[in-house]
Amino acid sequence: MKIGIYGGAFDPFHNGHLSMIRGAIASKKVDRVLVIPTGMPCFKPARKVTLSPYRFYMVKAALKDEPKCEVCDIEQVFGEPSYTVQTLKNLRKQKVVSEKDELFLMCGSDILFEFESWYQPEEILKQCRLLCALRPGIDEGQAKNQAAHLEEIFDTKVKFFQIEGVEVASSALRNRGEWDEKTGIPEAVRAFIRCHDLYSEDAPLMHVSDEMYKTLMKHCFTLFHELGSKRLLHSMNVCVLATRYAMRFGGDPDKCALAALLHDCAKELPEKQQIELAAKIIHGYTPGKQILHSPAGAVYAREHYGVEDQEVLDAIQFHTVGREVMTITDKIVYLADKLEPARDYDDLTEIRRWAETDLDEAMISCYLAIKESFSKKGMEIHDDTKKSLEYLISKRKD
Ligand SMILES: [Fe+2]
Ligand SMILES: [Fe+2]
Repeated sequence: MKIGIYGGAFDPFHNGHLSMIRGAIASKKVDRVLVIPTGMPCFKPARKVTLSPYRFYMVKAALKDEPKCEVCDIEQVFGEPSYTVQTLKNLRKQKVVSEKDELFLMCGSDILFEFESWYQPEEILKQCRLLCALRPGIDEGQAKNQAAHLEEIFDTKVKFFQIEGVEVASSALRNRGEWDEKTGIPEAVRAFIRCHDLYSEDAPLMHVSDEMYKTLMKHCFTLFHELGSKRLLHSMNVCVLATRYAMRFGGDPDKCALAALLHDCAKELPEKQQIELAAKIIHGYTPGKQILHSPAGAVYAREHYGVEDQEVLDAIQFHTVGREVMTITDKIVYLADKLEPARDYDDLTEIRRWAETDLDEAMISCYLAIKESFSKKGMEIHDDTKKSLEYLISKRKD
């Protein structure tokens, strides 16, 4: 089979990318396209690039119904940025493609002029050939001359295909901050950006320390392989929102971001394992099913993710029902979990409004909403939630 390999940061994925994929398939030069969102950023400081799982699932959403095209997670691993030559070798080694498959590295014509300065170009061309897109308006003659030059020095054959012209540039789009149909972004991607509040102007993660940013990136790659897409995206949303609240209410952005990212880290473990983990810090009884993952998560975060900060572990442990006297990190993680942008199960307007200005009032408002919905079902809120609510109200009175 002839397989087009199309890698990129896709930050965000736009119509230009889509026209490359469709053009390659329509040209029949390849049978299918393997789209590979980069994991570790190569050429930009890590913080300038959106966290990898967001980009991966954004591309997935964009290409959900695209025939003959597949999104590949081979670069979703923490480490040094992967050079193209290594990715191509890994595709074969990990049997994503077979030895018999012919690989075509898809690129724009500008790449032809840079290719010689890439890392190990001759090795790349032992793994694949170049498949170059010709956009309307580019100088075809010049591109073909350069291709002939590469063919001669590397003993290869460069192939071409035509694509439709689309006016887009990711960085320009991002800076505009508008996500309507004029931006050259497919609707599925725009919906994804809106749902997860990506590219927000205040960019909360810019406020965590360099070391913490690296830790968050590393955990994102681990979580990518441990959690389903929905829960991972939820956890990342909670992380970004908790960092924003930390800035707003004087919390520690590093602690809040870390606790928030890992708050549900044990939720998809087998129940038996969760019970065993929770038993290490809760003695004498087993917490109910809804709560179990919180103490289990605190232990798992310590044992599996190497978290040692007790304040962070506590915020994970108490994120479902709270505790009588909560730290600022507890409250921020608790609220961010309930209010992250993809949450739409209830009317959260009032609680979100409180969370703009007053952390304790936001907590009270959130507890009261939970109490009301529980009482409609004839249920009582958890004892710890009750104590926490009473404590916050008593504090308000004096
Ligand atoms: Fe949870
Ligand atoms: Fe959660």
